Amino acid sequence: MKNILVTGGAGFIGSNFVHLMLKNHDYNIINIDSLTYAGNLDNLKDIENDSRYTFVKADIRDRAAVTEIFKKYDIDTVVNFAAESHVDRSITEPEIFLTTNIIGTQNLLDVAKSFWKINPDDKYSFDYKDGVKYLQVSTDEVYGALGKTGMFMETTPLSPNSPYSASKASADMVVRAYHETFKMPINITRCSNNYGPYQFPEKLIPLMINNCKAGKSLPVYGDGMQIRDWLHVSDHCAAIDTVLHKGKDGEIYNVGGNNEKANIEIVKLIIKALGKSEDLIKYVKDRPGHDRRYAIDNTKITTELGWAPKYTFEEGIKETIEWYLANEEWMNKITSGEYTKYYDNMYKKAEK
Ligand code: NAD
Ligand code: TYD
Repeated sequence: MKNILVTGGAGFIGSNFVHLMLKNHDYNIINIDSLTYAGNLDNLKDIENDSRYTFVKADIRDRAAVTEIFKKYDIDTVVNFAAESHVDRSITEPEIFLTTNIIGTQNLLDVAKSFWKINPDDKYSFDYKDGVKYLQVSTDEVYGALGKTGMFMETTPLSPNSPYSASKASADMVVRAYHETFKMPINITRCSNNYGPYQFPEKLIPLMINNCKAGKSLPVYGDGMQIRDWLHVSDHCAAIDTVLHKGKDGEIYNVGGNNEKANIEIVKLIIKALGKSEDLIKYVKDRPGHDRRYAIDNTKITTELGWAPKYTFEEGIKETIEWYLANEEWMNKITSGEYTKYYDNMYKKAEK
């Protein structure tokens, strides 16, 4: 592993991953990102002059651009984070989820296949250069929703409920097919809800911190009793690093934080940490198709690869709240632009 193509590296998890890789290894990181509303180069300001790091503005659906990048940087590893990632947006605008998340993935796989295959013109020969790997960053949402009990295992059938999770599940199927048909060296990771620094404030935790700080109402969907498993982003990035180095060819690994919490618990915890009143809570219309509960069984990655989450939720959320409070400028820059329009539109519709 020398030249790693990270896609979507200007987003939340991708930027944390770039930081971690530069800290832990001496690899070249080539970050391609089309800089949608969620892409933010401020997330990478501190490493932009690192000689091992290169940013190229490019869309993962653009065959010519991706091919050029593979050639120019002699890419041997791909970690695909690039995606439309917000469930609420997928309900109002599904199409871009399908093109970016599915076609974008297929485009990356095709370019990698032709670049990495030793005999690219022989369609029946599937020898690949040594050490190459494609890693698809997926989500537990592909498994659908759980009832009060049970956990998602890698063998749980896929049953996505939102356009977002349907697009991620489809991408996983395409990645799997490239492994089965073309013997592409791949791994898929499926993680639970991430939290930590640099998360776009359309997602639960940074949105609630930001609103709470400003004394704005805190929009809780439905009864607030939906459960998510929360994984600190640095634990997630460490898991990806582990799978890149130790993952068995063709395998899927679930990654969870062992931290199941109801949404309302999190909202109340943020209110308490910021010294505000629970009167800020406002129950709004539920999200259509809202998954009730997610939970991850971590056994495979912990026993086979030796990864385990380091953060407890209590430590992680405390540190995260402190980060958002200390990085006011980062937040203000985001929320002063297009975000306001999105927010007003989204939450006007959600009034009960
Ligand atoms: P994010 O929305 O913060 O970042 C996505 C990044 O991808 C942005 O920088 C955006 O500009 C870029 N991008 C979007 N479309 C692109 C395109 N066509 N070409 C190139 N770049 C494009 O998302 P995130 O939260 O960092 O999630 C990263 C990955 O992890 C996604 O694949 C997501 O499905 C998955 N995931 C996220 C979570 C979570 O809790 N955030 C949980 C499970 C899985
Ligand atoms: P989100 O951060 O959008 O992640 P996901 O939908 O991928 O799990 O939402 C996390 C949970 O919080 C989910 O159950 C929806 C809920 N939620 C609210 O109640 N209010 C909000 O304003 C948001 C953004 C989310």
